[in-house]
Amino acid sequence: MKDPVTELAKMGTEAAGQVVRVGLGPFRPYLISHPDHVQQVLTAQWGNFRREGMFWRPVRRVTGKGILREGDEWVSAKKILQPLFAPKYTSAMAEGMADAIAERVVELDGHARTGQPFDGAEEMTAIINQAVVKVLFGGRISRATSELLAPEFATCATSIAFRLLLPFVPYSVKVPGDRAYLRAMKNIDEIVYPLIEQTRREGVRDGKPDLISSLLAARLAEDPAEGVRQVRDDLVSVYATATETTAMTLTWLWAVLHDHPEISARLHQEIDRVVGDGPVRPEHVGQLTYLNMVLQEVLRLFPAGWLIPRMAVADTEIGGVRIKAGSQVMISPYATHRLPEFWERPLEFDPERWADQSTTRRHRYAFFPFGAGPHACLGQNLFRLEAPLVIANLLTRYRLVLTNPQRLTALPGASARPKQPIMLRLVPIKLSRTK
Ligand code: HEM
Repeated sequence: MKDPVTELAKMGTEAAGQVVRVGLGPFRPYLISHPDHVQQVLTAQWGNFRREGMFWRPVRRVTGKGILREGDEWVSAKKILQPLFAPKYTSAMAEGMADAIAERVVELDGHARTGQPFDGAEEMTAIINQAVVKVLFGGRISRATSELLAPEFATCATSIAFRLLLPFVPYSVKVPGDRAYLRAMKNIDEIVYPLIEQTRREGVRDGKPDLISSLLAARLAEDPAEGVRQVRDDLVSVYATATETTAMTLTWLWAVLHDHPEISARLHQEIDRVVGDGPVRPEHVGQLTYLNMVLQEVLRLFPAGWLIPRMAVADTEIGGVRIKAGSQVMISPYATHRLPEFWERPLEFDPERWADQSTTRRHRYAFFPFGAGPHACLGQNLFRLEAPLVIANLLTRYRLVLTNPQRLTALPGASARPKQPIMLRLVPIKLSRTK
């Protein structure tokens, strides 16, 4: 219970990837970590392994109906959302995203001037929040309001840890985190509903449809009575999946770089060479090869989407183990990404393993930080643009110093975040002239 994410990975390793039955009191889910088995659950037999059951209940209290569900609700949400995250649409967002991130990163000059350490997770969340709100929400909410959203979502993501670990506890029994969760949910609704009404009144701005106006048009056409509530669920689902995961991946990165000054130096060199003095633009991202290798390695060792739960609908078998209908199975990229059968020196942070993809032969399901199969992440393209933009913007301006190095453990919330605060200090490379 102290460090359940690591324990889960250890169970997978000790069983050499074979199916493990995990005893969580009365609740005994299966841990599935072998890439063949992951493939079976997420892709080959995905219809038999649905996103139902106890693990999903805590998440769905806030995300409601939509993309994170199954069946018709998922199909209709995916039909609307998938085109909005297609590469064509993501590249159209790229310039706006680069501007939003650059503007927000400059604000960190304040921290650089004082030299005071700050909480890295909070600041990464604020940067991603600003980018997501500007780009996905079409800049329809004020800065002050959007800044209220990020901490509420962070509360939701972290306060469900207890419910994820003890999912069989009924909701009539209050557990730590419940009150904070319900309060955060109410605060989120108080921001999101007025935002939807405002978009309804304003319509599409400057002929450019954004996520909210596109969702409204589609959902109201489908069901005028339930349309607004459905848009609320869609927006909350997308915001929840888009921000916390990305922000936590960036937070892990700074902790890792502290332990690897040589990797940090090489990153600085590459960014200097590719970006130079100029602003970071989307076209730089494809040239930042080493940065992308480092990110892959962070996604391997610290995959924010650490738990992908499913429930078997009909009796079946995985790796010779009978799985009865109604059983819960837990897939954990955190566990699979650390299996020595598939990774040399699995616990070592080594970006070089991503150096030459054409010669590396690896099981397709040994690495799946974004899930796989029909439910695979819709935001991968966005992440692969957004994260390098944030890192390159930060590293062209500052050296980031971790002021409280310690052994890190992962907090098992909706995404895996470091349990210990990541306190950072900025050493300026360049500062804006304005205050
Ligand atoms: C490091 C960043 C991210 C990670 C690690 C991540 C991880 C994941 C994983 C593991 C899943 C599979 C869930 C399942 O199979 O049940 C998923 C699904 C999803 N992700 Fe991401 N994600 C990230 C970023 C994003 C971003 C930026 C967006 C949106 C802008 C996004 C939107 C979604 C959506 C909508 C789904 C559900 C897809 C479906 O069920 O059809 N994600 N993500």
